[in-house]
Amino acid sequence: GLPARVRIHEVGARDGLQNEKAVVPVEVKAEFVGRLAGAGLSTIEATSFVHPKWVPQLADAEELYPRVAALPVALPVLVPNERGLDRALALGARRVAVFASATESFARANLNRTVDESLAMFAPVVARAKAAGVHVRGYLSMCFGDPWEGAVPVARVVRVCRALKELGCDEISLGDTIGVATPGHVTALLDALTAGGVPVDTLAVHFHDTYGQALANTLAALQRGVSTVDASAGGLGGCPYAKSATGNLATEDLVWMLRGLGIDTGVDLDRLVATSVWMAAHLGRPSPSRTVRALSHD
Ligand code: HMG
Ligand code: MG
Repeated sequence: GLPARVRIHEVGARDGLQNEKAVVPVEVKAEFVGRLAGAGLSTIEATSFVHPKWVPQLADAEELYPRVAALPVALPVLVPNERGLDRALALGARRVAVFASATESFARANLNRTVDESLAMFAPVVARAKAAGVHVRGYLSMCFGDPWEGAVPVARVVRVCRALKELGCDEISLGDTIGVATPGHVTALLDALTAGGVPVDTLAVHFHDTYGQALANTLAALQRGVSTVDASAGGLGGCPYAKSATGNLATEDLVWMLRGLGIDTGVDLDRLVATSVWMAAHLGRPSPSRTVRALSHD
């Protein structure tokens, strides 16, 4: 069966905008987050407290977060290390996310660490966040394929996923960072994780749409009981440290499918499409989302 309700974890303002060549002005980012909340999204990843040289697009996190903090939604932020956690806690963040990799190549490219060194870097972050009553998401990137290493063995993903769980992460988001997953692979990975002691109700899925499989992969995950799905308004996104990663699954495409399946999301699709059309105008190119194109009237 399928879940009765799906929680959408909106990543457009973070995963989307981190990959834009142009730096979007902070006022536009704040309006984007506000409009997403107005469209009914209840979890909106706002920004990242990473090194500003590594992701200059989000170097304005200190300016952005206070502008959106009062919105009545959950506003998770990325924190790679204790320095990032300190910055997020200083602004009152109540949800943070660390981000690990299933592969050594991406751990090096994205975090300048081995996989185990990055887990060691996260350990005090998760412990301190939990002690402060802050919800912790653990991202796990390259769960299916890696641009340098090719196909990623399921056993490797299970190992790092279990390690994130043992650190104390409340939720783990399985990332198909470069968008190479197909539905059979998704099912095989979820079955291996369940067999490895990672309960499916602690998992989220995070698909990029490089090969047009993100929605099919999502349906495969829903059929295995996953009920938290990451998506990006208008299909914005990618990762600056993963060559060939394209946009995330578009939130509009996800909402259209879920609506057809009778699954409640609380999202007003017309308001969301209007938001993505507005953002596309700021970015100077149309949204790649098929649903945005089908439902926009200009
Ligand atoms: P490093 O160069 O090893 O840093 O980078 P370090 O620990 O050696 O520190 C060097 C200097 O940076 C120090 O300053 C630190 O204070 C400073 P100094 O003492 O030399 O003056 N520093 C910081 N400053 C501000 N904020 C911080 C911070 N940390 C250190 N948080 C580091 C290591 C982790 C910092 C770096 O690699 C980094 O910032 N990486 C972030 C990369 C990133 O954000 N990638 C995108 C997100 S992941 C993603 O998109 C995938 C996802 O969507 C899921 C999927 O699709 O798979 C989540
Ligand atoms: Mg991503």
